[in-house]
Amino acid sequence: MGTVVVTPTTIWVPQDAGALSLGADSVVRALEGGARVRGREVRIRRNGSRGLYWLEPLVEVETRAGRIAYGPVGAADVPKLLDAGLLDGGAHASRLGDINTHPWLASQQRLTGARLGVVDPAALDDYLAHGGYAGLEAALAMAPADIVTAVTESGLRGRGGAAFPTGIKWQTVHDQKAAQKYVTCNADEGDSGTFSDRMIMEGDPFALIEGMTIAGIAVGATRGYIYLRVEYPHAARSLATALARARERGYLGHDLRGSGRDFDIAVRLGAGAYICGEETSMLESLEGRRGEVRVRPPLPAIKGLFGQPTVVNNVITLATVPVILARGAAFYRDFGIGKSRGTIPLQLAGNVRRGGLVERAFGLSVRELVYEYGGGTASGRPIRAVQIGGPLGAYLPESAFDTPLEYEALSANSALLGHGGVVVFDDTVDMARMARYALEFCAFESCGKCTPCRIGSTRGVELVDRILSSSNGARAADLALLDELCDTMFNGSLCGLGGMTPFPVRSALLHFREDFGG
Ligand SMILES: Cc1cc2nc3c(=O)[nH]c(=O)nc-3n(C[C@H](O)[C@H](O)[C@H](O)COP(=O)(O)O)c2cc1C
Ligand code: SF4
Repeated sequence: MGTVVVTPTTIWVPQDAGALSLGADSVVRALEGGARVRGREVRIRRNGSRGLYWLEPLVEVETRAGRIAYGPVGAADVPKLLDAGLLDGGAHASRLGDINTHPWLASQQRLTGARLGVVDPAALDDYLAHGGYAGLEAALAMAPADIVTAVTESGLRGRGGAAFPTGIKWQTVHDQKAAQKYVTCNADEGDSGTFSDRMIMEGDPFALIEGMTIAGIAVGATRGYIYLRVEYPHAARSLATALARARERGYLGHDLRGSGRDFDIAVRLGAGAYICGEETSMLESLEGRRGEVRVRPPLPAIKGLFGQPTVVNNVITLATVPVILARGAAFYRDFGIGKSRGTIPLQLAGNVRRGGLVERAFGLSVRELVYEYGGGTASGRPIRAVQIGGPLGAYLPESAFDTPLEYEALSANSALLGHGGVVVFDDTVDMARMARYALEFCAFESCGKCTPCRIGSTRGVELVDRILSSSNGARAADLALLDELCDTMFNGSLCGLGGMTPFPVRSALLHFREDFGG
């Protein structure tokens, strides 16, 4: 008699930090234990999150009919799920079927995040099987200047916040004559309510590694650094594994893929200061100094890390580059509207029923995002405001919700898109407190180099306190003074921390004046 070979059932359980915080590891233990007592063999694979956070931990079982999802799954739910036939895709209230057909996901245009939740972030073969490294292969067959041209023609703008055209930045570094150039990745992701960088690093780290490698070849850099916030230990582990695998297989290091080009990447941990996300502070920190803003010029592209020409790009910017090289600049540029080309991974957070990652071409309205994707507030109360673009982003009232999410339209509304974070507030929010918080945040995080920010933020907190406790006459004068202070901070600050703090303050004053008393 021959031996019967039992093929274990493959189950995917995310190891994304969000899923872990909701008990994904205990779900794994429950699945393994539960399968054992039922005489079934299982093989657990760990993926990133698909970005439907209200359904995490989202478990997927490989069946003859494809991957069948269940969610949210808690450890305590596992015995009943196993009894309901989860290992064969059996029916259950939490069965979601093929998650790709879920309207929330099916309506998205995932380019940068196409592999999120699909692949095992530690498996280079998974990456290759899902189109990975096609961009690098294309880049290796091109002249560096042509790679830069492709990125310029794609219309890609920096996703870290400033939305500067990536190709132009690369062109500047490319054009410098220097013995050593660098590619640095800004993975500080300090904005409140943002997590797309983390999701890529945890769920598809090879995309970032490939993007940085392409950048290195394009500009003539042989060294790359990822500046990662210390609060992202899971991303640090995922990156360390992926970097080692890429090196083993010749995708990093000397003579990569036999091309005669060298490029390698090291990770450096930042100690958790918001200002270290500002690119020149990040460079100071990378050089081992206190994170303090450098005066520009010179631009980092001319004199950056260790005084050498340096590309500084955000995680999403870099992780998008392989798509452009693999599928062409025109393919990418075809998404989006106006000067906002391609897709933007929006991160929906705060008081919202369905939070998570929504990658869509630029142009989706705030209303579509918060109601159609978000499903309104988690509290069930009406939405009063959304803050877009992190702690220094403007607050928009319901009357502005038809604004398309793209750089120019938001700018015309005295708002900004930043890193794509959208935080929802219901009608219990006190907007004067939110304005005060913005100033307090600025005072706390200020690097102290310039006066409008260092002193202005503290005076601003005092002013809001005075406005809230004073009589009508004095209040009017203080409101005018607060506006003047915002003017000084906006025009006189050395960097965006002091310069953008007026956005939340002024938008709160403009749209929610009633919260400031009187
Ligand atoms: C106060 C402040 C904080 C910032 N924080 C971040 C950050 O956490 N991550 C990021 O990528 N960019 C951040 N930026 C923007 C960077 O200075 C820079 O524009 C960006 O890293 C460039 O990459 P990109 O062109 O790919 O967006 C910050 C800017 C300011 C003024
Ligand atoms: S605006 Fe604030 S954070 Fe920026 S350089 Fe001035 S003091 Fe430093």
